[in-house]
Amino acid sequence: MDASDIEALVIDRPEDGVFKVHADIYRSEEIFELEQKYIFEGGWVFLGLDCQAAEPYDFFTTHIGRQSVIVSRDKDGILHGLINACRHRGALVCHTASGNARTHVCPYHAWTYDSAGNNTAITEHDRGAHGAGFDAEDHGLRRIPRFESYRGFLFGSLNPDVPPLEAYLGETTVFIDLVVDQGPDGLELVPGTVHYTYRGNWKLQIENSADIYHFMPTHETLLRIVNARAADDAAAASAYRHRKEGSVTRGSMCFPNGHNAMFGGGDNIRARPLYRELDRLMERVGAVRAKWMLYTRNVLFFPNMQLLENASLQIRVNRPVSASRTDIVTYCIAPRGESDEARELRVRQYEEFFNPSGLATPDDTAIFEDIQAAAGADAVDWNQGYMRGMGTVSREPIPEARELGLNPVTSVTGSPSLGDETILHGPIRAWRDRLKAALSSEDRPSLRYGSAAAE
Ligand code: FES
Ligand SMILES: [Fe+2]
Repeated sequence: MDASDIEALVIDRPEDGVFKVHADIYRSEEIFELEQKYIFEGGWVFLGLDCQAAEPYDFFTTHIGRQSVIVSRDKDGILHGLINACRHRGALVCHTASGNARTHVCPYHAWTYDSAGNNTAITEHDRGAHGAGFDAEDHGLRRIPRFESYRGFLFGSLNPDVPPLEAYLGETTVFIDLVVDQGPDGLELVPGTVHYTYRGNWKLQIENSADIYHFMPTHETLLRIVNARAADDAAAASAYRHRKEGSVTRGSMCFPNGHNAMFGGGDNIRARPLYRELDRLMERVGAVRAKWMLYTRNVLFFPNMQLLENASLQIRVNRPVSASRTDIVTYCIAPRGESDEARELRVRQYEEFFNPSGLATPDDTAIFEDIQAAAGADAVDWNQGYMRGMGTVSREPIPEARELGLNPVTSVTGSPSLGDETILHGPIRAWRDRLKAALSSEDRPSLRYGSAAAE
């Protein structure tokens, strides 16, 4: 497969109002391998929040593509991004999702690493069992070549040749700010992490979260249950209730590097936990940003993280396992120090909507599995579901983008029934362009690793 094969999988003719994607991008294992190498292992991916390792010796494990990594805070409070593979013979060193440990001991031959990744113990080493050549080498855990934070959102890259994180994220950092600044003391993780797997391609999830078109038909049961509840039922005070056509501003924006944002105003903002703080919030962040904090916002940080504020506030991280299997990890986040009442409402809304036990997520994952099952043979070829909204797409920033100071590549505004799909163009174009660039380069991105101490 070469660059022209990738080019041939997307028909992208905005001047004719045509955008189509071939079903192979969702089912080809060959494409999955390329995505892993050149997208997930070839550039920035989200790893987690710094508050997941808040104290000295705290750590958590995650992945960059197929690579297991450890994010560890050392005794001096410095965070390290480490490759979770022993320097001795490559065994996985750390097997736990998170914890607090001064050392990590490899289960195979007990090589031991401290919280900064330095090797502190090799059996028989001090009795001269090894030669000079061995002694001349560093034995610490490999470091992730690039490891940076934007306001506590940690990203890593196995490819050292990537732009600085803030350049990669570009204007989408505004949407991280809209979350971090909701409380005067930043955000925190609500205890509990949810993991689940679906039998479908990873791109189905990132597309779905930007897809307002599907909401009414797919989540019909959820809407029926919510609307059947008494208006004064606190547990029913869902933010997506009482949506009325015409009273809602909806839109989408595509940014460079595949990031995108879908937003909606005018929903039932009184149901949002943050609404109780509105006066203080407006005083602290201004009327425009306070309004945006109460908007529905589904934002994709390409390729693996979505920051979703609709029913509640969620970080959703995807990890492709194969072309037809995806692992998802989700976290509920909240302003640090919000009232017990607001926190309870947040958690109830979160439970109601999200995750395998919620009323919305299972509707979506069932559809992903349907799509994967239906795309079993070549009879399924060109999907047409990317063209709604092309008649209204703007190359100039829409007013909602301007009020946040944003200059998206394309943006759309309209009523919810517009069901814009041009928001999907950004990630697909980034996907295509990243793979094409990698495959057409004489000097394909090489993966180089630094170790805990300079070699
Ligand atoms: S593989 Fe880790 S100590 Fe041998
Ligand atoms: Fe959905």
